[in-house]
Parts: sequence; structure tokens; C-alpha cells
Amino acid sequence: MSEILWNEALRVFPGGVNSPVRASVKPYPFYVSRAEGAYLYTEEGRRLIDYVLGYGPLFLGHANSFVKERVIQQLEKGWLYGTPSRAELELANHIIRSITSIEMIRFVNSGTEATMTAIRLARGFTKREKILKFIGCYHGAHDYALISPGSAAVDVKTSGIPSSVIDTVALCHFNDIECVERTLKKEDIAGVIVEPVMGNMGVILPDPEFLKSLREFTLTYNSVLIFDEVITGFRLGLGGAQDVYKLRADLTTLGKIIGGGLPIGAVGGKREIMEMLSPAGNVFNAGTFNANPLSMVAGSASLEFLEREKPYSIADKAAKEVYEELDRITVKHVINRINSMMQIFFGIDSVRNADDARKANKGVYMKLQVELLKRGIFLPPSQFETIFTSVAHDDTVINESIDVIRIAKRELE
Ligand SMILES: Cc1ncc(COP(=O)(O)O)c(C=O)c1O
Repeated sequence: MSEILWNEALRVFPGGVNSPVRASVKPYPFYVSRAEGAYLYTEEGRRLIDYVLGYGPLFLGHANSFVKERVIQQLEKGWLYGTPSRAELELANHIIRSITSIEMIRFVNSGTEATMTAIRLARGFTKREKILKFIGCYHGAHDYALISPGSAAVDVKTSGIPSSVIDTVALCHFNDIECVERTLKKEDIAGVIVEPVMGNMGVILPDPEFLKSLREFTLTYNSVLIFDEVITGFRLGLGGAQDVYKLRADLTTLGKIIGGGLPIGAVGGKREIMEMLSPAGNVFNAGTFNANPLSMVAGSASLEFLEREKPYSIADKAAKEVYEELDRITVKHVINRINSMMQIFFGIDSVRNADDARKANKGVYMKLQVELLKRGIFLPPSQFETIFTSVAHDDTVINESIDVIRIAKRELE
């Protein structure tokens, strides 16, 4: 069935898909008919244990009943008003309570819009043009974010992006603080945007001093520090990476988990910067679907659940147990993990930046992905994505996963 649908899709969608990484599942993507908890069910009736989780948003697992109930209640009341609703205040309050650097927030519809708006805000606030980003960090699919990106765009030539845009983006390697200092000293940098934990070249962790120095240097050079927490927000804990590393960004971009699986993005931060946004200020942002009630209630329900149940230990334990089993693979490898996100790199000792990640043996990773998929486990179909666990990855799911990994890994050895 998936093959038939795929052939039809190849006729109507460029490359057969609506987001590039989905075409990386070989020989063709499986089509999903429904999902629940840690499981995806394919059109063929196969049940797969999902370690992709919509590329991060589904921290509570698929079709969480608490979130579902709230969405259904909202559907009864209409789903787009074009004017404010109580739901947007509820979600804002959850976020402001948890991430202390966020004093004001603007909801948009994707992480892409969030980083685009944050970068514009940094420019508007500082009256400077250039931004600094890190090679391999992925901040979405707008022009400024697509200079040396990670994720599915990692090998894409930036066709369609004007050279004038490219000239406004300075680049450094993640964990290279000397480069950051040099660049901030030499150029007028409006803002530095970073994934505090990289999740789009596989997982890459910051050196202990890197983020701290980034905070200090951006203060010294009056540059806006933007933490892109689209992945890490509410995944590493209620306070995201900023709580883990005990730092406060000037602006934070969010997405994924804060929408409970519905489309969302947000930019939040210091009041004096946020008040530059239209209509309070003259940095423009708008959106027909900004703060739409369905995304707001799905997000509020998710964050309410997380605040009440604090189920982080479940997802983290699941990731630790999968990590331990993967780590028994005898082919040379390294696994980078923090809490419920990780990635394995073969043929290499350590991965500290995008260049290291590129040196990993992608062939062995893809072989692992294929062998696991044959046996009922869905790992990201790219070296440059993150393996995620969720609150729905309970002991039954993990024990089954470990048995499958044990068998599949023999194919690599
Ligand atoms: C760190 C980060 N920022 C921004 C984005 C873009 O988010 P979206 O796909 O919702 O536009 C992503 C998407 O994966 C991401 O991982």
C-alpha cells in the first residue's frame, strides 16, 4: 500500500514529500494510518516503535488522551477566531512560569517563523545587520537560517538565497569560543543564534564553558543572545537548556513540544526587546494562524501535564536504557546523549562540532536504521537527526526495543 501511495506522491509532490527528510526512509517512506503512545501503525498494518516522534514535538507520545480531550473540547467551540482568546494567555503563562528569561512572548506557527522573527528583533533592537550562527545548527527554512544549516539541509546548496543575505551571516563552529570572540570584536553583530544543545547534526553537546562564555561575550559586545530551544524547550526539563546550564538568553525561540503536536512556534524574552514587536514597536510580525486556539489548547494541555506530573524521569530512563544497549555495539562508535535526546556516530571517537559529525560513517548508521526498521523500530532516517524518547516509552516498549536492537545489531558486526 505504501508503495502505491508513494508512486502517487512522486507525481504530485516534489521529491514525493512535503518535508525533505521524510524521503530518506528507504526504499520509500512507510505511510502511517494512525499512531498511539510510542507506536506508529502503517498502512500495511505494521506496528513500529517510534523514536522520531514527529521530529521532537511528541514528548507525551502520540495521541495523549489528556491533550486529545482538550483539543476535542476546543473543536466544539470553533478553531479560528481572528481575535484573541483566553487560551493564548494560558499557554503564555505556562511558558513564562517555566523559562525565567521570558518576560513577554509572541506566538507564531513554526520554529522557522520564530527564529526569523528573533533575528529581525535582534537587528531592530541593536540597529546592526549581521548575525552570527554556528555551522550545522538548524534554525528552520528561511533565508538567514539556511547558511551552513544542519538537518535535511546539511548538504543543500543554498540555491535561491541572495548573496546579500549570505553576507550578513557570520559563521563559527559550535564549541569554538575563540571564533565567537574574534567575530564579535571584529564585526558589529546584532545577535548570536545557537541551539544550546545541537540536535540537527545528530546530538552535539556544548563544552561546559562554551555557553557560559557565549553569554559573557554577547553581553560585552552588546549583541543579542538567542537560544534556539525549539528542540530543547520542555524536553530537557520544564526550564529547557537554560535551566540545565543555568544561563539566561536575551531571546528564546520555541516550537515543537509547546504545541503538543500541533503547529506552533514562539519567540520570547526580555521585555525591552520584545516590545519592539508590532504593534507595540516597529519590528513587524503577523500571522493569520498566530496563537490559533487549537495549537494553544494542545500546548497548554501538554505543559499542564508536564508541570503536574513531572514525567521527565520516564523519558530520560527510556533513553538511558536504549543508549546502554546501543553502546554495546562492537563497531567503533560514540553516542552523545542528554536526557531524552541522543544520537550514535560510527567510526569516530568524539563529536564536538559539525565537522566531526560529518566524518562519522553514515553508511553504518543507515544500516542500523534499516535493520531496526525491518524489525519494528523507527529511528531517524538520517545521521543528522535526533533519536528521541517520550513519556510513552515505558518498560514494555523499552524491553521490546532492547530485544530488537540486540538482534539487529548483529547485522553490523
Ligand atoms: C532547533 C530548531 N530550530 C528551528 C526549527 C524549525 O522549526 P519548524 O520545523 O517548526 O519550522 C527546527 C526544526 O526542526 C529546529 O530543530
